[in-house]
Amino acid sequence: MYDLTKQNTVIVVFGASGDLAKKKTYPALHGLYKNGFLPEDTQIIGYARTKLEIDEFREKIKPNLKSIPADKDITEKFLKNLHYFPGKYDEDEPFKKLNEYINKLEEKSKHEKKNRLFYMALPPSVFTTVATHIKNQLYTKKGFSRLIVEKPFGKDIESSRKLVGDLAKLFTEEEIFRIDHYLGKEMVKNIMTLRFANIFLGAIWCKEYIDNVQITFKEPFGAEGRGGYFDEYGIIRDVMQNHLLQVFSVLTMEKPKSLDSERIRDAKVELLKCVNPIKKEDLLIGQYTNSTDGEKKGYREDETVPDDSTTPTYAAVTLFIKNSRWEGVPFILKCGKALDQLKTEVRIQFRDVANPIFENLSRNELVIRVQPGEAVYMKMINKKPGLSMDTMISELDLTYHRRFSDTKIPEAYEALILDALAGDHSNFVRDDELDVAWKIFTPILHYIENEKLEPIMYPYGSRGPKEVNSFVEKYGFKRDVQEYNWEDPSNKSKTSDK
Ligand code: BG6
Repeated sequence: MYDLTKQNTVIVVFGASGDLAKKKTYPALHGLYKNGFLPEDTQIIGYARTKLEIDEFREKIKPNLKSIPADKDITEKFLKNLHYFPGKYDEDEPFKKLNEYINKLEEKSKHEKKNRLFYMALPPSVFTTVATHIKNQLYTKKGFSRLIVEKPFGKDIESSRKLVGDLAKLFTEEEIFRIDHYLGKEMVKNIMTLRFANIFLGAIWCKEYIDNVQITFKEPFGAEGRGGYFDEYGIIRDVMQNHLLQVFSVLTMEKPKSLDSERIRDAKVELLKCVNPIKKEDLLIGQYTNSTDGEKKGYREDETVPDDSTTPTYAAVTLFIKNSRWEGVPFILKCGKALDQLKTEVRIQFRDVANPIFENLSRNELVIRVQPGEAVYMKMINKKPGLSMDTMISELDLTYHRRFSDTKIPEAYEALILDALAGDHSNFVRDDELDVAWKIFTPILHYIENEKLEPIMYPYGSRGPKEVNSFVEKYGFKRDVQEYNWEDPSNKSKTSDK
């Protein structure tokens, strides 16, 4: 285990003035610092093209830090420890200067081991250039040199292989940490525990009991302000091929030999190798138009998006796994922007009871609510309390805010940065894993683009294209026969859980 207090660590954030660094990286570093996970002498240097004075930079960072009045002093200390270094990405000179700067900081440390963690919050166009400069100018042997890389890792299998190959010439796979922040989410991590630490769940985790599975990601906002990036990538590359596929892998992989990071990643790769590339008939794509009240603009009306763009902002695909555990079970992955709510969940629908003696039975469902409001609940049929033998849907409910009300759930980025410092790769994407992931998605992505497939339009703020209902039913998903309301922990209201 990495003992942070006995080693000196410098963290360099490339792309420090960008959106990702501002919204995720720095708040996570602050969260770790505030909770005592980063020793006080950890130095954090931001590097970006934008010319900024250090105070201007601190002002830019400050608003996104989660800081309550009681944290004021520690937040001030954190901000004081930040450094900012403006420089170009394609010139050697600023990297040389940065190295001198880091050397000076390191000289002040009493520890012999001097680690450097390089965080690349950068557009893919400069990944390799920056990684090359890091290797030539900043790489250290006085401690570890590690590289955290943010997605997108390519656009298809070819570009991903090129990127992986280019980075492999500079850094070993052990030194590279490809971030998929969904792997850092508490509930995604919990899937392994639920499956492999509970005999009753382990026993029914197979085609004999599970009829279909849905993994759903919904966001109530569109691609506003990010149209340039989004239009080139689309929702499948932005969310599905990475975040949802990771959830899918941990949900379906065989039990790893141990909790060792390589064994976990082996299990995921083995599983993904059993998934066939997606077929045309297992795909549905959509794009949002303006909201019905006219208040929210449609995707094509965004200034940064071409008027005739066919880029999907909604997608549903169904994956099938060719192995003895899962043969024939449809896994429906759905994700969309500009929808009616914010929600990521896994919904496992079990088979009908054989030879039922009760009438009108709904199916059991196990729902893993990833966000917001972490929860796990099993919808089960119960006798309606009273004199009749009528049935009703109730639930076994583990809602985190009730059961673990005093526990702070770490942000995904906090957990992952700490893992990278500790050298734990379990929740990062390995090169071969990336390759199989792209193998599954590349043909359908090329088909969508080459054919200029027209997405189905849906209004901003709606549940997505109406056709999604028949899409999921096509794979056997059955709606509840009786009405069911579940208390949503994120807004404390009792609503239908669909
Ligand atoms: C990012 C995508 O990777 O994940 C965004 O690029 C998306 O489009 C985001 O909004 C969702 O992350 P979270 O943690 O807010 O669910």
